[in-house]
Amino acid sequence: MRIHEISLIAAAGNTISVKASGQGATVIFLHGFPLDHRMWLTQLNDMSDRFHCLAIELRGFGSSSLDGDYSIQDLAEDVEQVRKHLAPNQKLHLVGLSMGGYVALEYWRKYRQNLASLTLANTKPNADDEDAKQQRLQMADRVVREGSWPALQTMISRLIARDAVESSVGQQLTEMLQTASPSAVAAAQLAMANRQDFSQQLPLISSPCLVIAGSHDAITPAEATEQWAASLPNHRLRIIQSAGHLTPMESPEVFNATLVEFLSAQPL
Ligand code: MLT
Repeated sequence: MRIHEISLIAAAGNTISVKASGQGATVIFLHGFPLDHRMWLTQLNDMSDRFHCLAIELRGFGSSSLDGDYSIQDLAEDVEQVRKHLAPNQKLHLVGLSMGGYVALEYWRKYRQNLASLTLANTKPNADDEDAKQQRLQMADRVVREGSWPALQTMISRLIARDAVESSVGQQLTEMLQTASPSAVAAAQLAMANRQDFSQQLPLISSPCLVIAGSHDAITPAEATEQWAASLPNHRLRIIQSAGHLTPMESPEVFNATLVEFLSAQPL
């Protein structure tokens, strides 16, 4: 299946890059930090026979531009721009992993009427505590001084399960981390440090939700995910065995089968 690139001009003059494939109901994919559309390649390929798949590159990542600092709410506005241009008059299925999940929740806050469903993978609803905020500010400073790689290379063993580090998934992850620009990494850290807590809103989300966790996720552990997901009134939970924080890359077959089954059960 052909994956093609579409560039849109959004708020603040930013160029948003979207990688698109397939036809059918629209599914928008939002990647984690500090990645890009490449983490969704298997989904763009394997789901294109039934769905119109759009992988948005968040500001500064992949081919999307960055024009100064932004908030997670700004990224939700970018998603709405993409919907308006590429899927007008349609409700969309939104799939966000980790940082992409923070954006998906903000999208729900403002644009829930446009959502057919919400998939929250390897993410969490709560904001950072003071300690986590400080660590983000330190990383933002460090990457500007030293470049991204020294700070990001230490993340590999936390992002994927240990067994995957030496595999092709580890290689693909390394390539993404090596190409993440320092300014994109710094801006994303600041945006995440300032994000709002969402925990109290969970009981209000009546959209159908799929929550996915990895049994070996060191960043958003499965047990914690199970606890917050219980507050969602209309959800399914899937814990993918042996996978770490990047379930769509580490276990693409299980991830895709779970997602397709969930999406197919939603009314058109
Ligand atoms: C991600 O994968 O997007 C990050 O773990 C999110 C974060 O740093 O909170």
